Amino acid sequence: MNRKPVVVVTRKLPPAVEQRLARDYAPRFNTEDRLYTTEELRQHCEGAQAIVATHTEKFSADVLARLPDSVRVIANFSVGVDHCDLAAARERGIVVTNTPDVLADATAELTMLLILGAARRASEGERLIRGGRWDSWSPTFMLGTQVTGKRLGIVGMGRIGQVTAKRARAFDMQIHYHNRRRLDPELEAGAVYHDSLDSLLPQSEFLALHCPNTPDTRDLFNADRIAQLPDGAIVVNSARGNIVDEDAIIAALRSGKIRAAGLDVYKKEPRIRPEFAELANTFLLPHLGSATHETRDAMGFRALDNLDAVFAGREPGDRVA
Ligand code: DGY
Repeated sequence: MNRKPVVVVTRKLPPAVEQRLARDYAPRFNTEDRLYTTEELRQHCEGAQAIVATHTEKFSADVLARLPDSVRVIANFSVGVDHCDLAAARERGIVVTNTPDVLADATAELTMLLILGAARRASEGERLIRGGRWDSWSPTFMLGTQVTGKRLGIVGMGRIGQVTAKRARAFDMQIHYHNRRRLDPELEAGAVYHDSLDSLLPQSEFLALHCPNTPDTRDLFNADRIAQLPDGAIVVNSARGNIVDEDAIIAALRSGKIRAAGLDVYKKEPRIRPEFAELANTFLLPHLGSATHETRDAMGFRALDNLDAVFAGREPGDRVA
């Protein structure tokens, strides 16, 4: 009788995903949903053939080297794979997959929330009410920035960037973008392509960051880039904290060069720079881009489709290493 492959599941997953795992595999669940140390992870992986992981586990070359030889595949429950050293995984003969496509809608929705929340001072208003400090209304009370009709610059026009553009068009925003490659006209849908950030940034009354975290994009959004934005621009980041120089954005939020920022991701999650919470002109969320029931189920099923393919001897659809 064929034994079911043993799968280490590093974090608690949605019930429907864990049920499918229990049906098709011999899973080792993380019932406490606690972050494993490298040593704990290694121990859990003894005799296991696969890991279902999230971006909260760091698969550096060192961690990968310590995994038992039995591990053949890491099926990520994430589109981002910046937590995995892909070259080292290849070297070690471990297949790595991710979950693209399925989180574009949820992340674009959240990007619109960041745009609206930052522009309309949603955190400040909430704090005022929750703190019992709202005592009057006046025509000049808590004025924000209108979103409708403004120019939105998008850095990184992959699947998430494209859905953000679509949603932003419903607010009559004019879409400008920078991407490594220009999109085909039907995908571009009238958006204005910029072949460099130097050209995009001065146009961006609003700026949405959607590029992956790679060595090339680390601290991409730094003081020099910020200086290229129009004064009073609004910036949102639902991609990765590492693409923003946090000192630079904090200074620009203080000076008013950036009028407001909507942030869902940070360099050292879950510890965030206290300045972000102290500043009145930030709208902050705790890495919730893909956090809907529908999307988290879809991410889990996509990760399991990849796992199924590997164990059936097929090429997984979302192989990244
Ligand atoms: C992703 O899929 O990369 C999200 O950030 C959640 O990990």
